[in-house]
Amino acid sequence: MDFHNQVTALDALAGVAADALVLVVVGEALDPALDKTVAGLVSEAVASGDFKFKAGGALYLHRPAGLKAARLVVAASANATPKAFKKAAAAALAQIKGLGARQVAVSAPFALTAEHAEALVTAAADATYLYRHTKPSAKADAVIAKVTLLCTKADTKAVKQGLARGQAVADGVKLARELGNRPGNHCTPTMLAEQAKKIGKSHGLKVELLDRKAIEKLGMGSFLAVAQGSNEPPRFIVARYDGAAKGVAPVVLVGKGITFDSGGISLKPGAEMDEMKFDMGGAASVLGTLLAVAELRPKLNLVCIVPTCENLPSGGAIKPGDVVTSLSGQTIEILNTDAEGRLILCDALTYAERFKPALVVDVATLTGACVIALGNHHSGLFTADDALAAQFQAAAQSSLDPCWRMPLDEEYDEALKSNFADMANVGSRAGGAVTAAMFLRRYTGKYRWAHLDIAGTAWKSGAAKGATGRPVGLLTHFVLAQAG
Ligand code: BES
Ligand code: MN
Ligand code: ZN
Repeated sequence: MDFHNQVTALDALAGVAADALVLVVVGEALDPALDKTVAGLVSEAVASGDFKFKAGGALYLHRPAGLKAARLVVAASANATPKAFKKAAAAALAQIKGLGARQVAVSAPFALTAEHAEALVTAAADATYLYRHTKPSAKADAVIAKVTLLCTKADTKAVKQGLARGQAVADGVKLARELGNRPGNHCTPTMLAEQAKKIGKSHGLKVELLDRKAIEKLGMGSFLAVAQGSNEPPRFIVARYDGAAKGVAPVVLVGKGITFDSGGISLKPGAEMDEMKFDMGGAASVLGTLLAVAELRPKLNLVCIVPTCENLPSGGAIKPGDVVTSLSGQTIEILNTDAEGRLILCDALTYAERFKPALVVDVATLTGACVIALGNHHSGLFTADDALAAQFQAAAQSSLDPCWRMPLDEEYDEALKSNFADMANVGSRAGGAVTAAMFLRRYTGKYRWAHLDIAGTAWKSGAAKGATGRPVGLLTHFVLAQAG
């Protein structure tokens, strides 16, 4: 799908050549500047009760009289914010995506910012993504090939910027969705490593892949402990985007790459266990962010680290009570083999020290407790650093990919005490998302750090089961804001 902008006055919409003209409206009445022919059509629909000026209100007209465009879609937006605009645009696109429209023009009666433009791109990309890798019979019903955002001359610069950023984020989201959706027997650690290599090749990035032997040599006893239950070989992926001078401290992203989480010997119940193929959502979003950043080429250095393996039960698997030694030298008593995410992340977080990072962010589908705490709307944000938290809130706002700050007080650390090792890998059931973050905190003392628990946001269950590609938008905005 291609995205463009075009300077077009609100009173010239009748002359817009497109297969579909999407008009987003706000408020209780039409903008007085609106093209008289379009205004007449909408007013008629209002009079006949077919359209209401209320968020969610929608009107579809085929071959609207007096318009050059073959279709007119009107969508009412709650207000002029990018968030409301995205919702209205998504509704309008959903209405026409299965129809014959190839070229769509979108108009709104308010000033457009970069965020509006980006929101349109990500809405369109989201609406038209289709998973086909293991279901080639799935027929794409979206024929939309070109989307033009109509804007004023004054808004052009911001709109162009927003479209470019939106395209990059959409590409990253698409990659993350695709990797997440592929089943565990397709999306293996080996395959994730190959994907990283592929991004490296197409975008000129350095990608290093460590196999079991190399990981052993480094001393990542905790990561390897999780990997030892599976026949699928683990990988430790390190990918670098160098957009600034060599000496500039990099931003480091670490993504949990469990390609299937059965729970191990602490086996999960059977219901919905298939969804544990999405347990590499952190890895997918880190690779998606890397792709978006590599497309936008900001002046910063970025290192992406992905420890990836399966968590399975077997004769060689870790058992409750086993004690392992992490790369940091700290020992861990594994009381629950299903708390495996933190076991692979802690070694990656220690490995991150060697890059002398400006800051480190890890991203993980870490705890069911986070889903209980926050549901499926906000990702959980954990950081002791108020400045980092503020930067994440800003990125959440501009990307429309929300997160919510959770506590990380010393008092929660108590729960990780063990009689047989420096720490246990689980605490109490209460506050499980926080104790998981506290575990990671023990490995992150040497740099500024934030942790995102995306267990509730990386995928959807039920009829719309599938990866969301979150939080690629949030991460991309956060990383871009670090550019000097
Ligand atoms: N991958 C899961 C977390 C998860 C569970 C995400 C359900 C989304 C939905 C993680 O590895 C896990 O199993 N965590 C355990 C931790 C517990 C044993 C302390 C959990 O949340 O139950
Ligand atoms: Mn688990
Ligand atoms: Zn897991």
